Amino acid sequence: MSRVRRLSEFGRSAALLIVLISASHGEPKPAAATPRWDPNWWKGAVIYEVYPRSFADTNGDGIGDLNGITAHLDYLQQLGVDGIWITPFYPSPQVDFGYDITDYNAIDPQYGTMKDFERLVAEAGKRNIKVIADMVLNHTSDRHPWFVESRSSRTNPKANWYVWVDGKPGTPPDNWLSIFGHSAWQWDSARQQYYYHAFYIQQPDLNWRNRPVRDAMYDMIRGWMKRGVAGFRLDAVPQLFEDPKLQNEEYLPGYTAYGDRRTTRAHTDNLPEVHEVYRELRQVVDAVPGTVLIGETYLPNVAELAQAYGAKNDELQLPMDTQYGMHSSLSAELFRARLRDAETGLKGNVPLFVFDNHDNRRSWNRFGDGKHDAAIARLIATLLLAPRDTALMYYGEELGMSNNDPKSVDQVKDPIGKTGWPKEIGRDGERSPMQWDAGANAGFSTARSTWLPVAPNYATVNVSTETKDSGSLLNYYRSLIRLRKQNAALREGNLRIVDENNKDVLSFVRAARGITVLVAMNFSASPQTLSYPAAQIGISGRRLTVLAESFGSDGTPASLDKLVLPAFGAFIGELR
Ligand code: GLC
Ligand code: CA
Repeated sequence: MSRVRRLSEFGRSAALLIVLISASHGEPKPAAATPRWDPNWWKGAVIYEVYPRSFADTNGDGIGDLNGITAHLDYLQQLGVDGIWITPFYPSPQVDFGYDITDYNAIDPQYGTMKDFERLVAEAGKRNIKVIADMVLNHTSDRHPWFVESRSSRTNPKANWYVWVDGKPGTPPDNWLSIFGHSAWQWDSARQQYYYHAFYIQQPDLNWRNRPVRDAMYDMIRGWMKRGVAGFRLDAVPQLFEDPKLQNEEYLPGYTAYGDRRTTRAHTDNLPEVHEVYRELRQVVDAVPGTVLIGETYLPNVAELAQAYGAKNDELQLPMDTQYGMHSSLSAELFRARLRDAETGLKGNVPLFVFDNHDNRRSWNRFGDGKHDAAIARLIATLLLAPRDTALMYYGEELGMSNNDPKSVDQVKDPIGKTGWPKEIGRDGERSPMQWDAGANAGFSTARSTWLPVAPNYATVNVSTETKDSGSLLNYYRSLIRLRKQNAALREGNLRIVDENNKDVLSFVRAARGITVLVAMNFSASPQTLSYPAAQIGISGRRLTVLAESFGSDGTPASLDKLVLPAFGAFIGELR
């Protein structure tokens, strides 16, 4: 939860493809090009985040790799995912486990080779799964050749590629804080200047006011499009620009987990200039229609989120909606309000809902009450997969994987956990190895030890065991994803919230092509009996045919006159 708080504080044809990409350089587009994929494939899609270090290890070194992802594509296809977002696999000193890049056009040898990547894209394509690459635009590693050159003097060709400011050692230019703790300014003795880093010291921020930096990044993106990537998850984009006037932030009450006085982030986060870059990025990816931009947009409200789509819908197609699922209050009223925000506040655009990722405690731990955890996990699955949204999942969420937190500071791998212990314990807990089966290392690796320890619950919480159990969370996810594709109302229907004043149960109706579906979710620990007046639902039928239930039903037929939901139960039924 501290991480939730921390983050929310800031905020097929190769030949054809080449033609399309060169078109973006000013050459005329071919008249009637066959699209490479459905340009709208991402609307309503299920996108699955893979943290490659932790997904599957095929060479026995205890660290996951690209071939491990390829080996499990059948699993992802059976789950029903449309796309996978793979967190950074580029060469990196791994200070921030890949988010500190030294070469944007290659694969880190610990994850494999470019051939492995090409095979992964090809095999995914056969299963109709798109591959989305993580793009770290805000910063590089301090060992990237650009930074090595930039720091070497004040006059070299890359001198202006990073954010350099004069100052005196010991007196940073202002009070700006790194998101990862302490001053955001680092003194460099060669240049006798400070450089800015929104994250770790080893992650100097690029200077996005410098045109050659942008052009270099856009060319690199074109390169990955040529390699068949269907989209990009844009890391830390609210941090792209800083106020050139270097004005101090205001102090807020209290201290951060790192012991710094809390401040506003008005001069470093979500400056209006980011929109110019979003539009440029969109133009770059529009060379291949349907190449999608997912934004790591931790934004404080729906109004700011709406802006990330662009005034003319010419910016990001899928900025992450962190208001909906990135918190820890299991309240029908709160989810109803956030759902309404997304329905009414995003100009009809598709929201990207997400509960779990590699930076936040797993939803199992955030929302679980220790007693109804399994039921609550099904409720979360329903909140993610039943609305009108694109759904972003995180590996293991479908199994009910929970955080496996370090017990003492010497076990911590994530540097923020070392700086912030014990208030900020780092992100290792949500990055534990994927649980494939009940065998050694949960089937993740044959190594003697794995880079992070496997969570003790792997004996029962794993793919193999849950596949065989028709009542498992995994099979609940599979059935909801299948339903979302097969049922017209859930696939393309609008969404209308009903029974609006119920403080325990969130209900909505979705309808399309003459099919009407009711979704009802009980957020309380006691059973709830519901009845819906006909006027609210808008159709005459009263009978509910069960499409999905998160609980073992006793077989009593459900209707709009009487629907009984057990504690934290979720129900999806079609009206007849
Ligand atoms: C994003 C990533 C996070 C990383 C940070 C710095 O927030 O999701 O894992 O540490 O950017 O690159
Ligand atoms: Ca490996």
